[in-house]
Amino acid sequence: NKIKAFAPATVANVACGFDVLGFAIHGLGDYVTASYSEEPGLRITSISGEEGKLPKEVEKNTAGLAVLSMLKELDEEREFGIDLEIEKKMPLGSGLGSSAASSAAAVFAVNELLGKPFSRHDLLPFAVEGELAASGTAHADNVAAALIGGFILVKTHQPPDVISLNTPDKLHCTIIHPEIEIQTKNSRKILRKQVALQKAVTQWANLGSLIAGLYTNDYDLIGRSLHDEIIEPVRAVLIPGFSEMQEAALHHGALGCSISGSGPSLFALSKSRDEAEEIGKAMGTVLKSIGLEYNLHIS
Ligand code: HSE
Repeated sequence: NKIKAFAPATVANVACGFDVLGFAIHGLGDYVTASYSEEPGLRITSISGEEGKLPKEVEKNTAGLAVLSMLKELDEEREFGIDLEIEKKMPLGSGLGSSAASSAAAVFAVNELLGKPFSRHDLLPFAVEGELAASGTAHADNVAAALIGGFILVKTHQPPDVISLNTPDKLHCTIIHPEIEIQTKNSRKILRKQVALQKAVTQWANLGSLIAGLYTNDYDLIGRSLHDEIIEPVRAVLIPGFSEMQEAALHHGALGCSISGSGPSLFALSKSRDEAEEIGKAMGTVLKSIGLEYNLHIS
């Protein structure tokens, strides 16, 4: 018995929804295979694609921790063990929910292997345990989008209360990943703990109108809502060429552009694949001009 699961890369925050909004990206993500073993206990037997950067010890690995918390909740005696093989197909520290993709795929695969004791939504708190280990804070915006797909709003993660939102048909996403690494832990540490009331008002107005725009397929409203006055200005300093890339994206027709999760990747939303590709080229030109390598992904 063997189950191989895929979980996608994700864009968290989506400008105005810090820690509560996220969406899944097509065509980029991690695979985890779960299988029975005669030796009791949980093991990570292999990790490929991350150049030896991730620990194989279950208690130190985000996917391992996520599955451990799930097995603990089940609290069952079993004679067999479970082996995990992790295939990382996306960069670490990219702001694309790399740890979340592995955790989500791992809990999904093990849940299937065990005959689905949990619903997909109920898997969320376990995957969040992995995020807690990775970033020092339990946030569910990446894992919820990786587990459920599309756009999601995390109302609360404990108890799990995640709402799947509408995704307008024409919406396309450009992702540019400058080849630098930012650890979520570090880019959370620099955030201010207090928010001025006026900024909070602007932010929740934008979050509300973005969600309205997603439901009414109102691309202009989506564009007018994709602003972040709280988190983006603090984190942008960690990303070389940020303002120039954002400007280039908007100039080439992006509805909006901001940091993906905790960075350094940026995402831009647009109404067509052609536009999304043009936007990617324009953002890439900025990074080339400052001598930074990058990867582009359109979905
Ligand atoms: N909401 C989290 C943050 C996502 O911005 O720190 C991390 O990818």
